[in-house]
Amino acid sequence: MSITVRAPAKINLHLGVGAPREDGFHPLVTVYQAVGICDDVTASRSAGWTLGVTLPDWIDPDAVPVTGDNIVDRAAELLAAHHGVDQHAAVSIAKSIPVAGGMAGGSADAAAALVALDRLWELGTSDEELLRLAAELGSDVPFALLGGTALGTGRGELVEPVPDAATWWWVAVPSTQGLSTPAVYQRFDELAADAPEEPDDAQAVLLALATGDPQILAGALHNDLESAALDLRPDLGDLLELGERHGALRGLVSGSGPTCVFLAVDADHAREVAGALSESHDVVLVANGPVAGAHVVTYV
Ligand code: C5P
Repeated sequence: MSITVRAPAKINLHLGVGAPREDGFHPLVTVYQAVGICDDVTASRSAGWTLGVTLPDWIDPDAVPVTGDNIVDRAAELLAAHHGVDQHAAVSIAKSIPVAGGMAGGSADAAAALVALDRLWELGTSDEELLRLAAELGSDVPFALLGGTALGTGRGELVEPVPDAATWWWVAVPSTQGLSTPAVYQRFDELAADAPEEPDDAQAVLLALATGDPQILAGALHNDLESAALDLRPDLGDLLELGERHGALRGLVSGSGPTCVFLAVDADHAREVAGALSESHDVVLVANGPVAGAHVVTYV
């Protein structure tokens, strides 16, 4: 038996960050949107545990955590231990989401692995339990299970769907060099020593989503980590400017970066902006959102 589960990348349409909590995590109010750049995780029966990764040529193989250190190893261990079963499977990850890019690629892999292994091992884990296990694996993993558009609170792990009837078009430009999420949060702390305990609310983005108007959403996009990411990687500021000069409604660092995303009016406009950015950047992706969270695509 072999099961393939697909899980999406995310963009934070709003990322409000507060002062660090006692456990070191930062309180967040965020609006996640799942976009159609996806990793596939395939799990097959096997006598032992193996994990392989296939990559497009633009992702540096050295940037991907190897077997034993990959979040998918931890997802499998956690699920197997939770049910008291042996961690036996041959798993392969087919990556398309930028690595260490601020689009939650590792979280997508973890979410896809939880769903694939739950089916392979016939565990029947409830959605509630899967979300709880996902939260143990990382702040963004529950959202990768849920997909769509959702409000995230706590450290990002508490997710609830929000209405989002439109289709939004994005251009994403990954960076050859990843950024470490903890390093970006640390720079945020240095730059925003007076950050409030309560992060900024997401009202403007939630209202903009309800209008279905990309011009209005463009004006509401907000990322409190952007100045920290730009401080660590000033070249991203030039990229944001370039995308906007090429007609994007708005450029934004995705989460902790360094991937930059650009909101377009519609599909044709996204392709136009992507074409212009391709003249100076090797990898330019076009995606729409919202799309589904981790879901089975093949079961043989
Ligand atoms: O939860 P996750 O493993 O994705 O977090 C990675 C790192 O990002 C944490 O160790 C922490 O340094 C930082 N982080 C944070 N506050 C959050 C989420 C992540 O400080 N809400």
